Amino acid sequence: MEQLKKNEAFSGPEGPVVLVIMDGVGIGKNPETDYVKIANTPNLDWLKENAIYTEVAAHGRAAGLPDDGDMGNSEVGHNAIGCGRVFDQGAALVRNAINTGSMYEGEVWKKVTGNVKDKDSTLHFLGLCSDGNVHSNLEHFEAMVKQAKADGIKKIRLHALIDGRDVPPTSALEYVERIENFLAEMNADGTVDYCVASGGGRQNITMDRYDANWPMIEAGWKTHVKAEGRMFASMKEAVEVFRSENEGILDQDLPPFVIERDGAPVGPIVDGDSVILFNFRGDRALEITKAFEAQELSEFPRGPKPDVLYAGMMQYDGDLGVPELFLVAPPAIDRTMSEYLSNAGVKQFAISETQKFGHVTYFFNGNNSGKFETETWKEVPSDVCPFENAPRMKAAEITDEVVAAIKGGEYKFIRLNFPNGDMVGHTGVFEAVKVAVEAVDEGVGRIMEALKETGGIMVCSADHGNSDDMCALDKKTGEIKLDENGKPQPKTAHSLNPVPVFVYDPSDAAHAEKADVEKPGIANLAATCITLLGYEAPEDYTPSLVTVG
Ligand code: 3PG
Ligand code: CO
Repeated sequence: MEQLKKNEAFSGPEGPVVLVIMDGVGIGKNPETDYVKIANTPNLDWLKENAIYTEVAAHGRAAGLPDDGDMGNSEVGHNAIGCGRVFDQGAALVRNAINTGSMYEGEVWKKVTGNVKDKDSTLHFLGLCSDGNVHSNLEHFEAMVKQAKADGIKKIRLHALIDGRDVPPTSALEYVERIENFLAEMNADGTVDYCVASGGGRQNITMDRYDANWPMIEAGWKTHVKAEGRMFASMKEAVEVFRSENEGILDQDLPPFVIERDGAPVGPIVDGDSVILFNFRGDRALEITKAFEAQELSEFPRGPKPDVLYAGMMQYDGDLGVPELFLVAPPAIDRTMSEYLSNAGVKQFAISETQKFGHVTYFFNGNNSGKFETETWKEVPSDVCPFENAPRMKAAEITDEVVAAIKGGEYKFIRLNFPNGDMVGHTGVFEAVKVAVEAVDEGVGRIMEALKETGGIMVCSADHGNSDDMCALDKKTGEIKLDENGKPQPKTAHSLNPVPVFVYDPSDAAHAEKADVEKPGIANLAATCITLLGYEAPEDYTPSLVTVG
């Protein structure tokens, strides 16, 4: 790969270039539901008036998603920011592999289904059951089940993770109905036995990430594999009973359940079975994948590991080669900005707290967990608690480290992620979201001060929106939906809104000016940072949002 060329007219600032990613902080359209606006944000307000300011798209095609109706998310957002180009992402690649049939012609599909046919065993599907298109899409599950039936698979079990985080917070029964009708249709001719076997809320079991909370994986293993837990006759019954027992519970937090028939669990995962994890996104798929694949596992007492053929929808980690078997090849993200900067000898520091640590490292580097030579990574441990109870999260601790790194002078490029706007946005607790955004604003202010002292430059933006759009709206009228007490109903998912970009150069080292860029998106941030570091961005990167010199 070619080296970055130095810019003759500008050799970079005295201090570092700092890229601040304010996770989930977009630009709202409705002041009543925009908690970024409602929060007290003197630093962001000052930047908007005094720094270079622009707005960029962070959803849909600008992030490599199938279409512009798809909200952005952190995986595709950090991929785009880190690699400076827009690649077709998991959601689009899987849809394509299914529509063209290439998935079913592949070796892995044949292996997984062949195993079940040879052994007269069960094909298990495990995954997030919604159409959020962030981690999964129920359409993909349905298409694969239809194909499996055509291929002669007699027994299928679904281990259904309930969403409410990428879709409305209490929409579970819509998906349950869709699943149950679909399976009934499949079973109607009496030739197959397809049903739900287990499940639970995604923030309760199976979908932990970045080693934050392994007991969630343990609970998932117990539920899906061992089929141990509270039993119900159907998924619908499980959801209804849990809701009646836990007033106001959100779908993502629903307890685990096991489905029984004649008093026995209907689908434990046993020797000889095949398992497909149909989530295409990696962060929350890696731990459960490890539980299925690792010969030895120290994270929890797994018990005997069933001898199954396990496949992921995608390869979740290109460096680790995990999982071994996958149905669709991931986007071929290469030549990330970290790699270019490493080759140029630019020392880099990446930091966040556990919940978003992999975002600013593994996602930023194109879904690879390996580090480039000049990179240093730092993880601040996240609390293990509902984040509405601790909405400031570790913003202050992350900022302490960043300020020290700025002043220490060792690093020329520093990137960080403040998770608050997103992690607290997903809880749907309005007051907490306001505090979360204020904590981010304070962090940004302290970083600005340190850059003023050292002659560095800040690029401050976001990977997608969330806290800028916190209330559910009535689809027909556009009015805020109210609950039975007349209070606005929360929206826990990301938004479709654009995100801000502030370029703050207190010593005016770069003489930066806003560039005229057509249809800017978050991918343009990579070239922007490279330009501000005093290099020419690679030719096929989407262009810098500023000119310098
Ligand atoms: C999650 O995994 O928490 C949500 O599905 C998406 O949030 P993120 O893309 O901001 O991580
Ligand atoms: Co999010």
